[in-house]
Amino acid sequence: MRKNIVAGNWKMNLDYNEGLSLFSEVLNMVKDEATGAQEVVVCSPFIHLHSLAQLAKGNGRVSIGAQNAHQAESGAYTGEVSAKQIKSVGATYVILGHSERRQYFGETNQLLAQKTDTALANGLKPIFCIGETLQEREAGQHFNIIKTQLEEGVYHLDADKFAQLVLAYEPVWAIGTGVTATSEQAQEIHAFIRQELAAKYGQQVADDTTILYGGSCNAKNAPELFAQPDIDGGLIGGASLKSRDFTDIVKAFN
Ligand code: G3P
Repeated sequence: MRKNIVAGNWKMNLDYNEGLSLFSEVLNMVKDEATGAQEVVVCSPFIHLHSLAQLAKGNGRVSIGAQNAHQAESGAYTGEVSAKQIKSVGATYVILGHSERRQYFGETNQLLAQKTDTALANGLKPIFCIGETLQEREAGQHFNIIKTQLEEGVYHLDADKFAQLVLAYEPVWAIGTGVTATSEQAQEIHAFIRQELAAKYGQQVADDTTILYGGSCNAKNAPELFAQPDIDGGLIGGASLKSRDFTDIVKAFN
């Protein structure tokens, strides 16, 4: 079901106490904000998940997510964490397909399709990331790249399963660079994604899909981005590490 969501991706930041402190500030600030995102998701490193989920208990607006999950149900995968384990500590979302995992850990669309299946099978809601590199955009390949990421990553899902996903368009060239996509650039791709979804699953599923924007989104540019008809919120990296900035983004819906 489509809704306005602001999700924070802490990436590999904050030790245990720093994470508790930041999350407590965010919880306090968000609870006082009646306007803005219908749902706030904080995607922390694994070490924080249980304590944040405990703190968020009873707060219907704030959810906790992981930043990755292994594709196997369990087994001899030293160092990995399963979707079942993530769910067991109270997290309900998981980011899959982030460009940093695609780049640094060689995660392919095919592997991400498996990760998506296992996450769904264990009751997690994937925030499935897609997006092109600067080279791909400069070569005019960005639409094809995104279409392929959808086709190979999630189109094996039937409409009911697909409806449990949140999509995040994250142009790789905007991630961590301070170079944000203009609202026109972002809206163009979000509209393209929704059009592709309509062709695959029908207009109702397309209209009901939450599509977030990620890539140097901040308190200053969020209002214009979130005002776009096909942008339903943001997946926030750096700005999610500052409680005031993150809360201002949560509020940035007109
Ligand atoms: O997943 C969100 C992240 O990739 C965006 O990072 O720092 O550009 O907001 P940032």
